[in-house]
Amino acid sequence: MTRKIALITGGSRGLGRASALAVARRGIDVILTYRSQREEAEAVVAEIVEMGANAVALPLDASDSSQFAPFAAEVRRWLREVGKRDTFDFLVNNAGTGLHKSIVETTEDEFDFLVRLHLKGPFFLTQTLLPSIADGGRILNVSSGLARFTLPNASAYAMMKGGIEVFSRYLAKELGARGIRANTIAPGAIATDFNGGTVRDNQAVHQMVANNIALGRVGEADDIGGVVAALLSDETGWINGQRVEASGGMIL
Ligand SMILES: NC(=O)c1ccc[n+]([C@@H]2O[C@H](COP(=O)([O-])OP(=O)(O)OC[C@H]3O[C@@H](n4cnc5c(N)ncnc54)[C@H](OP(=O)(O)O)[C@@H]3O)[C@@H](O)[C@H]2O)c1
Repeated sequence: MTRKIALITGGSRGLGRASALAVARRGIDVILTYRSQREEAEAVVAEIVEMGANAVALPLDASDSSQFAPFAAEVRRWLREVGKRDTFDFLVNNAGTGLHKSIVETTEDEFDFLVRLHLKGPFFLTQTLLPSIADGGRILNVSSGLARFTLPNASAYAMMKGGIEVFSRYLAKELGARGIRANTIAPGAIATDFNGGTVRDNQAVHQMVANNIALGRVGEADDIGGVVAALLSDETGWINGQRVEASGGMIL
């Protein structure tokens, strides 16, 4: 039987790492990317291989579209040599960083960077990889609860995440003929390195977030990994063009 293969950007840490491990636990091979943390990425690969699945970590700066064609060539090489196929099944556009600044403080350079990383990156990376995504596959874009609810100092970042949600719907519409589903997962605040680890490490922020979540605690990366794996499974194949929020019920 052909093994399924997932490509997860930003798989070295946080939500991408948890997602990579969660899908590998279901017997899916993983291509993950990292930008700076090669050792952490290789550690994730080792954990996946330990589970009996294939994995590789490839470098990618998701804010630099000039890297996408050579990256896709590397992906195709790995698919041929290790996956013994020309295609992969699941693309998870997860890589990203935040920006905690007010509208007044946000610079044009910071805004442009967010556009490159969170909008242009997923758009053109998906476009570049599309010929290698198998018919019947899935695309899952990572948004944020902040695209629904409104907190201070997140406007530019949240705007990008709103854009990725729109992109998912258009992907679903245009790729339906190939049986490819496209959805958005919108995590609430999760305790990772994101934004300098504020939600995890700043006690006041941690408590404020927990108080605003119906389940009464801050989310952990594994809370998202499980949802990602579920959204890529056969059982959820009729979910298409949707935004699924995974926040424990944040600011309902
Ligand atoms: N944590 C939250 O509260 C939260 C909530 C909602 C949505 N999100 C979204 O979830 C995604 C993952 O966040 P996280 O919490 O897992 O963050 P994280 O722990 O800081 O991890 C970020 C990941 O993205 C990679 N990355 C960062 N900049 C990149 C770039 N320019 N090009 C390629 N890869 C890059 C990092 O690679 P290196 O390790 O190599 O640096 C790392 O693997 C992001 O899109 C974020 O916006 C997070």
